[in-house]
Amino acid sequence: RPGAEEWVPARADVEKLSQAVHDCRGCELWGPATQAVFSSGPDDARLMLVGEQPGDREDREGEPFVGPAGRVLAEALEAAGLDPEQVYLTNAVKHFRFTERGKRRLHKKPDVAHVRACMPWLEAELSAVRPRVVVALGATAARAVLGHEVRIGAERGQVLDGEAHDIVVTTHPSALLRLRDRSTYGEALDALVADLRTAAEAAA
Ligand code: URA
Ligand code: SF4
Repeated sequence: RPGAEEWVPARADVEKLSQAVHDCRGCELWGPATQAVFSSGPDDARLMLVGEQPGDREDREGEPFVGPAGRVLAEALEAAGLDPEQVYLTNAVKHFRFTERGKRRLHKKPDVAHVRACMPWLEAELSAVRPRVVVALGATAARAVLGHEVRIGAERGQVLDGEAHDIVVTTHPSALLRLRDRSTYGEALDALVADLRTAAEAAA
């Protein structure tokens, strides 16, 4: 079956996984992308944050959450009393999916098939890092982490019981970038911060 499985080394640590991911051909997204983007942060972190997929900046730099959404996320983590360097950051899908509009590359949401194809990487990360709490940022990440569809509005901020780790779902920081109105932005940021604080407390 299609998927990343045959490229994921067994019982590998994060370092080894982050090297092996560059050879992955588990779906077609590797083709147009510059490079695979794996994770950042300590491989023994108690808290793992899972985003959707790398963006334009991440694709060029090879690091997760280094673009605009990453700045929002860092701000939210700090406001929640967390050091952004001390959480493990990764994505449900490791290659940037986009459409070209002239010289611009516009983010395109990954399909369910891409999330499914890329799952063996996330599963290997979970085995290697063994976090206490996994935070799913947005619906795509929640689908990957929980294995089914959820309504973020209904589930956000609760500590959901997983088998190996607890799970908290919240909004994706990029959703905040679309809120131009400052009061709306402030409210959305406060809600994200509150969810991250809940996750941090569950991981402590
Ligand atoms: N958005 C994500 O979901 N992940 C990144 O790494 C950057 C932006
Ligand atoms: Fe492999 Fe995931 Fe990239 Fe698809 S998106 S090629 S499954 S690493």
